[in-house]
Amino acid sequence: MSDRRPLVAGNWKMHKTGAEATEYAAALLAELGDGPVEAEVAVCPPFTALQPAAAAFAGSQVAVLAQAVHEADAGAHTGEISAGMIAATGAAGTLVGHSERRAAGETDAQVAVRVRAAIDAGLSVILCVGESLDQREAGETEAWLTAQLRAALTPFEGVHEERLSIAYEPIWAIGTGRTATPQIAQETVAHVRAVSAGLIDGERVRILYGGSVKPDNASELMGQKDIDGVLVGGASLDAASFAAIVRAA
Ligand code: 13P
Repeated sequence: MSDRRPLVAGNWKMHKTGAEATEYAAALLAELGDGPVEAEVAVCPPFTALQPAAAAFAGSQVAVLAQAVHEADAGAHTGEISAGMIAATGAAGTLVGHSERRAAGETDAQVAVRVRAAIDAGLSVILCVGESLDQREAGETEAWLTAQLRAALTPFEGVHEERLSIAYEPIWAIGTGRTATPQIAQETVAHVRAVSAGLIDGERVRILYGGSVKPDNASELMGQKDIDGVLVGGASLDAASFAAIVRAA
């Protein structure tokens, strides 16, 4: 058993307006009740709902994170948002390198500078990595994850950053209902931990699993030795189902 505190984060992707985020916050806080929650809990609304979500969850045990960040402080970057802007909404952190962003063109080099920029701005970061089905079937998973992790973590080499977590999200398990088996998830997360250990403190960094996590599989996944929590997409959109996953931690 490790003493890493579990982290359960809900990635809303392109769902919910500010008003819907406020409604969701009331429902989730009612579900979680007043007692202490074992896990650290976070939700990741779209940019337009960050401020209302941060206001609605203020003073609660639920943190609000953005889904992406740009590395520059300001400038001619149409459609982008800086780490300082995210912090100014009251949000506490951001995802970086989600596979849906990488598929839209975000490169390893951008992921690396974005993680750095977010941490430097005082945000927490969940760095996302993961392989495609073709890569898994070709036996390339470990090499691919090693390359993604080295690219993103090299700027931190030798310095453990408490605010940095990693999410292993196999692309073939995202939104497909095809969850990685607990064995595959554990094995691969153990590899992610071993590679991270060469760069930052592999024993202390929290590593999450993501990909079709639901209330009925969350507890077995989080029961694996190296899995310190989950990054939930679809099942986080409903407050009751997300609360059930938080309770599974
Ligand atoms: P699903 O839980 O909908 O498969 O999404 C996972 C994900 O991409 C979270 O970031």
